[in-house]
Amino acid sequence: MTTDGMPQVHTVRRGAPGRLPLVLLHGFPLDHRMWLDVVDLLAGDPTVLAVDLPGFGASPSGPDVAQALGAGPEPSLEVVADGVAAALRAEGVDRAVVAGLSLGGYVAMAMVERHPELVAGLGLVDTRSTEDTDEARERRREVARTVRAEMRVDAVLGMRTALLGATNRVARPDLSERLERWIRDQGPAAIAYAQEAMAVRPDRTAVLAGYRGPAVVVVGDEDEIAPVAAAQHMVDALADAELVVVPQAGHMTSNESPEPVAAALGSLLARAQG
Ligand code: MLT
Repeated sequence: MTTDGMPQVHTVRRGAPGRLPLVLLHGFPLDHRMWLDVVDLLAGDPTVLAVDLPGFGASPSGPDVAQALGAGPEPSLEVVADGVAAALRAEGVDRAVVAGLSLGGYVAMAMVERHPELVAGLGLVDTRSTEDTDEARERRREVARTVRAEMRVDAVLGMRTALLGATNRVARPDLSERLERWIRDQGPAAIAYAQEAMAVRPDRTAVLAGYRGPAVVVVGDEDEIAPVAAAQHMVDALADAELVVVPQAGHMTSNESPEPVAAALGSLLARAQG
C-alpha cells in the first residue's frame, strides 16, 4: 500500500522486535512532538509510532487524505481514523496499542469503532467519549471561520495557557512557550478542518462499552477541558479499564507530568502483550 496522501507516521523509538508497538495520536492544535516527553520515559522497550494527524506537522491535509481514501471532502474524524489505520498498515502494523490525547483520543475511539482488529489496547488521555453541546459546536465553527478568514492561527493561541492546569499556568511558563511554538507551526486550514471534524463527532460511549481489550484512562486533576468526570464516564463504560488521575496537571498531562502518563501507557502495553 502506498503512503501517498496518508497521515505521516514517525517512528520515534525503535524497540524490541516481536512486541506490540505503541501508536500515539496528538491533541489539537499540535503535532506528534507533544508526545516526546512521554516517549523518553517509557519502560519495556516498545517501538513507538507517533502520528501527525491530517494537516498537522508533516501530514497531508484532511481533504488530501480524504481524496486518497476515496472519501468526501467534508471534515470528518472517520476519515482521520481511516487515514491513520491505512498509514499504519502501510508501515506493516496490523495490531498496536493506540493512545490519544484529547483530539487524539477522539480518533482512537473512531479507530476502535472502524478498525477494531487493529486496537490491541486503548489509552485515552485527557479526552471524552461524549459529543459536543450545541454551544461548543458553534464555538468551533466560529474558530474555523476566523482562522480561514484571517489565514492565521491567532484565534487558537489562547490555548497555550488554556490547555494547562491552574498550577502550571503559573509554575511552568516554559510549557506555555513550547505550546505557543507548536501551535504557531500549524496551518489555519488544519485548525479549521479539525474544528469542523470535532464538531460533528458522535457520542462514542457505546463504542467503548463494546470494546473488550485492556484500556487505561488518564486525566489531570486540573483538566478543565476534559475533566475527571469525563474520564470516569469512559472508565464506567469500558469492560477492562484503569483510571489514572494525575495530580496538579491540566489537559496536557503528557507534558505537565509525563512520568505517570508513561507509567500508565507502559502498564497498558504489558497488559495488551499478555
Ligand atoms: C485537544 O486538546 O485536542 C482539544 O482540546 C480537543 C477539543 O477541542 O475538544
